[in-house]
Amino acid sequence: MSKAKILITRKWPQSVEAELMKHYDVQCNDSDVAMTVDDLRAALGEYDAILPTVTDNMGAAVFETATIRTKAICNYGVGFSHIDVPAAQAAGITVTNTPDVLSECTADIAMTLMLMVARRAGEGEREVRAGAWSGWRPTHLIGKKASNKKVGIVGFGRIGQEFARRAHFGFNCEIFVQNRSQVAQNKLDAFNATQVPDLETLFQTCDVVSLHCPGGAANRHLINADIMAQSKSGLILINTARGEVVDEAALAQALQNGTIGGAGLDVFDGEPNIMSDTLNAPSIVMLPHLGSATDETRVEMGMRAMENLNAIMTGKAPRDPVT
Ligand code: DGY
Repeated sequence: MSKAKILITRKWPQSVEAELMKHYDVQCNDSDVAMTVDDLRAALGEYDAILPTVTDNMGAAVFETATIRTKAICNYGVGFSHIDVPAAQAAGITVTNTPDVLSECTADIAMTLMLMVARRAGEGEREVRAGAWSGWRPTHLIGKKASNKKVGIVGFGRIGQEFARRAHFGFNCEIFVQNRSQVAQNKLDAFNATQVPDLETLFQTCDVVSLHCPGGAANRHLINADIMAQSKSGLILINTARGEVVDEAALAQALQNGTIGGAGLDVFDGEPNIMSDTLNAPSIVMLPHLGSATDETRVEMGMRAMENLNAIMTGKAPRDPVT
């Protein structure tokens, strides 16, 4: 029997690509250039499964094609707001993602950003590299203490809980949670956390707010000028979720006029393009979407996508279907 044809849209860890090649007729993307909407539309007619990433814009338009051969879209990543899941399902395609395996590493990057913003590590590093450091002095690059703070978490899923673990047990922070649904009491108790009713309360209460909710249309500009205007003085905003969750123009303004104290972003609306207002804002640390970027996690993400693919290709229910 001929092997199923699959497309890996970006370069994956070599060990996972090799594993996939044992079982499938695999098309890799050695140039590692992001695919266009036209490429993706054509791929739907050519491959049994597509293994995309966040850089593949699989909106409704991609699925408007006469011939669809694809049965599975096994996303490499937990976030799937780049895929129009109802449109895929209407075309008879099962969509999966890779939860769990990247929770710790994404929470680590959120904590990295929290510390970098609070302790002005980006500014310090730039100063050292520029040869501009004139030596230790009591008033040099004074930041804010990260320990013992009130930390707010928007979205208390797996990544939000890992961030809570780091902030609470590592830095003795008091945890506040804002979540669409009521969080089970045992999950809150694990971090001695308090669930607050709304974003306004979270922003009024907390020194740091870290976003761990999904992206997509429903959460577009969830964090906007009105919410930021409620901020406790000096609040630091961290976004490792999706760029569209924050109104970046409003954020740049809030940083300029001191409505909030600082921001750490790993994700951007329209990335890799970044608005000049964001680039030029004060008290901001920016990383190039590094949340899951470790050897261990990137291999586990690939293996998890493959597990989902194997299930679908053998007629079984995949572990991580998304709806
Ligand atoms: C994720 O897994 O959602 C990462 O942000 C990469 O897509």
